[in-house]
Amino acid sequence: MYKLEIRSSLKPYGLELTNNYNKNLRTIYSKGDLILIDTKIFITYGLPKFINKLSIIKISPNESKKEYLYIVKIISHILKKKFSKRNKIICIGGGILQDICSFISLILFRGIEWIFFPTTLLSQADSCIGGKISINFNEYKNQIGNYNPPNWIYVDMNFLSTLNKNQFYSGIGEIMHFYFVSSKKDFLMMRQNFNLLLNRDKKTLFKIISRCLEIKKRFIEIDEFDKGIRNLLNYGHTFGHAIESVTNYTIPHGIAVAHGMNIANFISYKYGYLSKNNFNDMQSLLSIIYSCKYPKKFNQNKFMKFLLKDKKTIKNELNVILSKKLGKMFVKKQKLNRRFIKIINKYFCIYFNFS
Ligand SMILES: NC(=O)c1ccc[n+]([C@@H]2O[C@H](COP(=O)([O-])OP(=O)(O)OC[C@H]3O[C@@H](n4cnc5c(N)ncnc54)[C@H](O)[C@@H]3O)[C@@H](O)[C@H]2O)c1
Repeated sequence: MYKLEIRSSLKPYGLELTNNYNKNLRTIYSKGDLILIDTKIFITYGLPKFINKLSIIKISPNESKKEYLYIVKIISHILKKKFSKRNKIICIGGGILQDICSFISLILFRGIEWIFFPTTLLSQADSCIGGKISINFNEYKNQIGNYNPPNWIYVDMNFLSTLNKNQFYSGIGEIMHFYFVSSKKDFLMMRQNFNLLLNRDKKTLFKIISRCLEIKKRFIEIDEFDKGIRNLLNYGHTFGHAIESVTNYTIPHGIAVAHGMNIANFISYKYGYLSKNNFNDMQSLLSIIYSCKYPKKFNQNKFMKFLLKDKKTIKNELNVILSKKLGKMFVKKQKLNRRFIKIINKYFCIYFNFS
């Protein structure tokens, strides 16, 4: 059994890769606990009989379910149940259910325990550790949040067999950034395993997921609250979030991040930081993921507006992560000046085929 413990100033927690959803659920479930479950998981995998039906809340995840006002509705629903501070929430789903559950667990009764069973590649290999909470507000993504890791995480890779192609590729898009930011050695390992990964080969999934978690652990244990080195893990995300917002979330998160990394690399190349060879190496993998879903139409002005709204943007100055080479990303304060806008426009012209 694979186990990983995370050092956190908030609470020590950890993860088990056990592939035994039902058994783990039986071990940790107590009467009175609340189950927040993705409706699709409930329909496909069900819940064991010992779970009290009245304690189940089903959610069909989309970005509108991460809206602050929707979460307020869930809280008022929970408060009508016999649920107290002594009980815990068990969350079964992907990144959206995670964000909802970690937010509610943080603020309800000044904090309650929660256990996470991640069901998507993105949540198993990335978001389940690190403790970040991100909630949407009006049309702006991830504007409200804090940190509240689960008390424990059970990863069952069997869930991944039912993800559709877009969702699976989204997970790959998200986890690629760990391999690019970590080192050339990690990038080569991912490239060597890429075809097997696309085919969901079990041994490869284990190798890729466990390595992702180890890379992320390295960053979050040094910089839990994103004040320094952890910022590098936002590589591709500022542009990715803007793409998600402009396309009204029709592009899955990780696929938008793959587009975002390619944009960051294009800018790095145009500014002379990144060699053409390194740009091509990364693009050869990224393009497999981002070509799986292109926006049907794209409003570049709106894209710029959302970049300015990114929570890391201060006074017209973006905080972007650019690249010097594999394993050498850096933070750049970037004004939205004419040169930068011209590079972005050129990118869309070449890669999105919109002029
Ligand atoms: N808090 C964090 O640290 C963090 C980090 C990265 C991303 N996120 C957030 O996570 C969200 C994206 O999450 P996600 O990509 O994990 O998925 P998701 O929760 O958005 O779910 C995506 C789709 O997959 C379905 N699904 C989930 N598990 C399934 C399974 N095993 N089989 C079949 N279908 C399944 C869901 O019903 C849904 O339709 C975004 O909102 C993003 O902002 C949060």
